[in-house]
Amino acid sequence: MLESQRGEKCDMMVLHKLAVVIVSLMLIYDFYNTSTPLEIRVQNPKFALLGPYNGTEFSAPDDVYEQLIDLKNFSFKVNPQPCQNYSAGLLLVVIISSNPSNYDNRMVIRNTWGRSLDSTKVVFLIGESENPTISHRIQNESALFGDIVQGSFTDAYRNMTYKHVMGLKWVTHHCPMAKYILKTDDDVVVNSYALRQFLARELSPWGAKGLITCQVLEHAQVQRSHRSKWRVSPAEYGPHYYPTYCAGWAIIYSQDVVPRLLKTAQFTPYFWIDDVHVTGVVAQEIGVARTPLASLILSRNRAKVLTSMGADYAGQFLFGPPDISVNKISQIWKAIPE
Ligand SMILES: *[C@@H]1O[C@H](CO)[C@@H](O)[C@H](O)[C@H]1NC(C)=O
Ligand SMILES: *[C@@H]1O[C@H](CO)[C@@H](O)[C@H](O)[C@H]1NC(C)=O
Ligand SMILES: *[C@@H]1O[C@H](CO)[C@@H](O)[C@H](O)[C@H]1NC(C)=O
Ligand SMILES: *[C@@H]1O[C@H](CO)[C@@H](O)[C@H](O)[C@H]1NC(C)=O
Ligand SMILES: *[C@@H]1O[C@H](CO)[C@@H](O)[C@H](O)[C@H]1NC(C)=O
Repeated sequence: MLESQRGEKCDMMVLHKLAVVIVSLMLIYDFYNTSTPLEIRVQNPKFALLGPYNGTEFSAPDDVYEQLIDLKNFSFKVNPQPCQNYSAGLLLVVIISSNPSNYDNRMVIRNTWGRSLDSTKVVFLIGESENPTISHRIQNESALFGDIVQGSFTDAYRNMTYKHVMGLKWVTHHCPMAKYILKTDDDVVVNSYALRQFLARELSPWGAKGLITCQVLEHAQVQRSHRSKWRVSPAEYGPHYYPTYCAGWAIIYSQDVVPRLLKTAQFTPYFWIDDVHVTGVVAQEIGVARTPLASLILSRNRAKVLTSMGADYAGQFLFGPPDISVNKISQIWKAIPE
């Protein structure tokens, strides 16, 4: 063997060892960060599981259709009805907050985890774009896929609470038969197979009552620094800490919770950070506990393990890390076994 070849082989072995050490450290780090029991029932029994004879009672929605918090002339500009043939109920509806210009994100979701599955419906929530080209594209896209719910408010960062509450309104009026509702964002991977298993087996195919489950954030400090993207002035929100709330990129609601959140959100003064507002302030007001999903959330490190080493090493999870690129969504999705 030539000297140079031997040197190369040696380098490869060192690299390989280094990789093993790094991955091991990542796993250990993650274990200490997320090692909580898988059984969410054990952790927090503040919700109830339903059986075949005690589902949610339906009544006409107690909500003013043309009102969205302080917008008195609200309407759905685009309003598909994917749930209309499911009067007997469907397992899951997924509502995805999306930016009008994120066509690529919606496309990758449609082709990966949001692909049509039995008893599951997926819609994207958007506002109105001020850019006429994008508005046209949205019309096109919506005609083609029929999965866009558009509300009559300007799509803007500080309007994301309108978007979230619009999702609650849409579910309440147009998809009340869904047993579970997942609110997520357009830059997230959802392990849709595992999620359906989790809902129908770990929880109950008939649904649950009083359930809000997510990555729970506690004692979060209000950001006052002018450099922060999340800066909030004392006039917008007085206290130094937020109430316990759910990270907004993946929240599971049970059927009964959505109209109750909507009803209270309609009369609660607007606050623009939607997850704090809906799953913190409003959820506290209606007295529904937030149940942590803990290790069922895929951290960035575990996502790396999943894509580099395979699903067996990454463990069970329901949704992937937030804020990821379109390519990363495809890459993680490919690593998930069916
Ligand atoms: C609903 O019924 C199931 C059995 O069918 C029972 O285990 C569960 O506790 C009941 N839940 C409520 C909220 O009554
Ligand atoms: C409400 O909105 C509709 C269309 O979105 C518009 O035609 C109507 O003039 C508006 N009414 C008021 C009072 O602003
Ligand atoms: C519901 O069923 C009717 C009749 O079968 C059909 O025409 C319609 O397209 C269906 N709607 C949806 C959203 O699947
Ligand atoms: C809308 O779709 C049509 C074909 O389906 C295409 O020719 C047109 O360019 C599209 N418009 C926009 C604004 O994307
Ligand atoms: C939010 O939407 C409302 C209603 O369309 C609009 O008046 C307001 O300017 C929007 N906010 C921002 C920050 O664009």
